[in-house]
Order: sequence, then structure tokens, then C-alpha cells
Amino acid sequence: MKKSDVVRQILKDRDGLSPKNSAVTAYAPSNIALCKYWGKRDQELNLPVTSSLSISLGDKGSTTELSISQNPHDVIFVNGRQMDAMSPFAKRLLAFVDLFRVNRDINFVANIQTNIPIGAGLASSACGFASIVMALNSLFAWELNESDLSILARLGSGSASRSLWHGFVEWHVGEQSDGFDSYGELITETWPELCIGLLIITEAEKEIPSREAMQRTVTTSPLYSAWPLKVNQDLSVLKRAIHSQDFLLLGQTAESNALTMHATMQSAWPPVFYALPETITLMKKIWQLRNQGFMLYFTQDAGPNLKLIFLEKDANAVRAEFPQVEIIKPFSLPVA
Ligand code: PMV
Repeated sequence: MKKSDVVRQILKDRDGLSPKNSAVTAYAPSNIALCKYWGKRDQELNLPVTSSLSISLGDKGSTTELSISQNPHDVIFVNGRQMDAMSPFAKRLLAFVDLFRVNRDINFVANIQTNIPIGAGLASSACGFASIVMALNSLFAWELNESDLSILARLGSGSASRSLWHGFVEWHVGEQSDGFDSYGELITETWPELCIGLLIITEAEKEIPSREAMQRTVTTSPLYSAWPLKVNQDLSVLKRAIHSQDFLLLGQTAESNALTMHATMQSAWPPVFYALPETITLMKKIWQLRNQGFMLYFTQDAGPNLKLIFLEKDANAVRAEFPQVEIIKPFSLPVA
């Protein structure tokens, strides 16, 4: 099945709708996986090998302003700069927007403002694609349900399927080949004291895009067969930890999940290694602090930056140990 078939199927009763609004704005938060998505069973539809679970990053994310234009082609601005249509990121965005023209002779202007570094393993594509889908939904007044919106966002980037909500989100793996059962769902439990700390080592774009790194891991890592088992275990432990607000269980499971994902990709060939020397130094410092009784864990995505996981009562101590940290309180915003 192709992406365009999925879009057609979801919009089949809404195809005739013309834009209801001249311009709309939609916000989607970025999200960080506590149990990671690493590996696709379908490359075209971004269908995952496993389920995954994330926490959204509150006011860190993307705002997309979308309108219909008189231009002869689509125009996309990212953080105020018009994208060079030939750059790989622009091509990806333009191909995505193109899916939604469905039988219509129209062009879009999209103005995407993102307040996190792009392509540095901070889920900028997740919030970007999710905010575009939300903007399209309100521009055309489709009134799609959350699972359909999540499926559409997934076609842009897998992790975008988890970026439609604030709070904890589970992306269900699904088993159908068309992916209509593979979408994100809000976990309604909240945890107001939970904090995420961004430790940005570099804002430079990653050397190996996650799509390529994932595929290389799936096809060449001798450890990959163990990954789905690890995810299934971690997922149920994390849900239990969230339910019982057991911070140590949550932190330990999330950190171990990230380290296992990186060990698996490091054993791919050619190896995929996202850490920089500073990443390792920070990890060692976190382990040392933990040995001294500090309740502090980390997770790492497809880049060298780390995200700390801790409770609000330790925020000042975290600031003292890591002066560069940017602290996010995912539940300080109203859950939308
Ligand atoms: O959605 P993508 O293709 O950017 O992949 C995201 C991969 C990780 O961030 C490493 C893990 C995850 O679940 O978000």
C-alpha cells in the first residue's frame, strides 16, 4: 500500500470539502520516547516492528501556520527562512504536503516555527509533521478523529504519530499491512512532578538520518532479534511504573531501553554510533551521581544529546550539576 492510498482512504468522505478557513495555526509538542521505536516493518508507511511509549515536551515543539496560496507551487518556511526546495528536508516536507492535495488544484504556504534544534535527535520532525496534519485538519475542517490524525502524522515520520497529545502516549504497533491499527493513543495518567532536562551537546544535524540508521540496524545487527523482546518487557514495566508513580522503575527502564537501542545499533555494520565524547562524559557523571544517591536517569535518541529524567524536587540540584540544562515540566501545561 502507498501513502497516498492511506490518505485517500482516511479522507474518502471529506474529499469534496474546500478550505473552511483562509489561514490556520496548529501546535504540536515534541516527544521523547521512554521506550523507543527502532526499526520499521514497512518503510513506505513507517510501520514499526514494536510499540513504543513517549512523553511529550510541553511547550517545546512546532507551530504551523498554513494557508492556501496563489503561488504556482507550495512554499515552506522553517523558522522564518524559505526552504530551498532541493534540500532533503524540504523534499520530504513537500512530498508530505503533496499527499493532501487530493484531487485539488491548490498550493499551500506553510510557515513552521520550531523551538527545538532540527535534526539533532530532539524529535523536531515528530512535532513538525504532527503540527502540519493538525493544521490541515482545521484548514479543511475535516474533523478527523485522533487515531486517523495519528496515522496521517505517522506517514511523515514514525514518531510524529505520538506528537498529537501532551503527556504519556503509546504508539500501538498494530498488525495490519495497511497500518490502520498502528496509531498513537494518550495514556490519561499524569505525573506532575516529572521533569525532563535537555542536555544539548550540539545542535548540528545528525550524520546518519534515523531512517537509514534504523534500516541498517534491522538488516545487519546480530542483536536486533532481541530488541522486540526487550521492548515488550519495558513497555509493560513502564506502564506499571506510570500507574504506580514509581520513579525509580520508570527511570531505570527508560535508561536501560535507550542503552539497549544504542548497543543494538552499534552492532550494525557499518556501525551506527551517535555518542560524542561529551555524551559519554555526561553519562558517567549521571552514573556517579546516582551512586551518591541522586535520583537521576537519562535517555538518548538518534543524536549525541541526552535527556535527563528526574523529579521536580531535584530540579535545583540538577541545575547545579548541569548548568547548561533546559528543564521541561511536561505536565505543567493543561493536558489537551
Ligand atoms: O520518527 P523517526 O523516524 O524520527 O525516528 C525516531 C527514532 C527515535 O527517536 C530514536 C526513537 C523514538 O521512538 O522516538
